[in-house]
Amino acid sequence: MFVCATGSTRRLLGSCLLFAGCDGPQSALSPAGRDAATVANLFWWMAGGALILWILVVALSVYAVFTRRTLTRERGQRFIIVAGAVIPVVVLSTLLVLGLRGMPELLAHGEPDGPQIHVSGKQWWWRVRYDLPDGRSFALANEIRLPVGHRTSLWLGTEDVIHSFWVPSLGGKVDMIPGRTNRLGLEPTRTGTFRGACAEYCGLSHARMTIAVVVLEPEAFADWLEEQLAPAAPPTSPEAARGQQLFATHGCGACHTVRGTAADGVIGPDLTHVGTRTFVADVTIDNTVDGFARWLSRPDHIKPGARMPRFDMLSSADLHDLATYLEGLR
Ligand code: CUA
Repeated sequence: MFVCATGSTRRLLGSCLLFAGCDGPQSALSPAGRDAATVANLFWWMAGGALILWILVVALSVYAVFTRRTLTRERGQRFIIVAGAVIPVVVLSTLLVLGLRGMPELLAHGEPDGPQIHVSGKQWWWRVRYDLPDGRSFALANEIRLPVGHRTSLWLGTEDVIHSFWVPSLGGKVDMIPGRTNRLGLEPTRTGTFRGACAEYCGLSHARMTIAVVVLEPEAFADWLEEQLAPAAPPTSPEAARGQQLFATHGCGACHTVRGTAADGVIGPDLTHVGTRTFVADVTIDNTVDGFARWLSRPDHIKPGARMPRFDMLSSADLHDLATYLEGLR
C-alpha cells in the first residue's frame, strides 16, 4: 500500500499485489478517521511484533537442529529460559502496553454540542436518528453523514438480535446488544464516502446489512442537516405524482414515513429524503429509478428474509412511476 507508488523492483511489485486489497472505502488499513488510524497503527506494531517472533522461532529451530549433538544440558536449559520465556514475555508485554495506550483515545465521546446520532440495528438494515442540540430531529436509514474534523457521538442499539456496527475506515467495531446502548465516538479526518457493514452474524441477509458513511466539510454538513429536517418535496412530474398515488393506495405508508404526507409508518425506513441517499437497500443497488424499481419488484431476491413485501404484481409502468416518486424524494 505504502510502497506501491515508487516500487520498481520485483519485490516491491509483490508488495503492491499483496496490499492492493488494503485500500478502498472499507479498509481498516486505509484510515480516514482518528480512531481508525490508532487501530491501524496498532495493527502494524502487532504485525511487526509477530514478524520478529516468527523470525526468532525459525532461527532458533535452525540453531537447535545444528547444535543438537554438541549442546550441553546447562546451555540447553538457559536457551529454553531465554527464548521460551524471557523473549515472549518482553515482546507480548510491549504489545499489551501499546494496545492499552490507545484505549482512552478510542473511548473518547463526541462533542456534547454536536448532533447525537442514534443507530439501531434491524434485520437487515440500519435505522438512524439525528437529535440536534436545539431539540429538532429526523430519521433516515442505511446512511450516516458526519462533519470532517469533528468528533460525533453514535449511540448504538438494536431492536431485534445482536448486530455489530463497523465502519473500518473510520473506527473500531462496537456490538449492538438487545437491551443496552453502547456509545462510539467517531472523528473523520478526510472527506469521502466510506462503507460499513454489520460484523456479527445476524441472520439470512447479514452480508447485505451495509451502511454508507458520507464525510462532508462542516458547511456542507450543516446544509445537509437543514435539508433533512425539511418535509418531503412534492412530486415534480406527472410520473412522480402517479407514483405518490400508488404509494398511498398500496399501503406503503403503513410501514414507511414520508414527512409532509399522510405516510407515518415506523416499521420500515423513513423515506422522507430517500432520493438523497447513496444507495437503495444495499450497496449493490444504485440510487436511481431503475435501482428503486429493481428493489420494489424483488426485495426478497436482493435481501432474502427481508420483511419488505415484493410488488411484482405492479405493471412495469406502475413500478417505474413508483420508483420515480421515491427517487424524487430529495
Ligand atoms: Cu446485522 Cu449481521
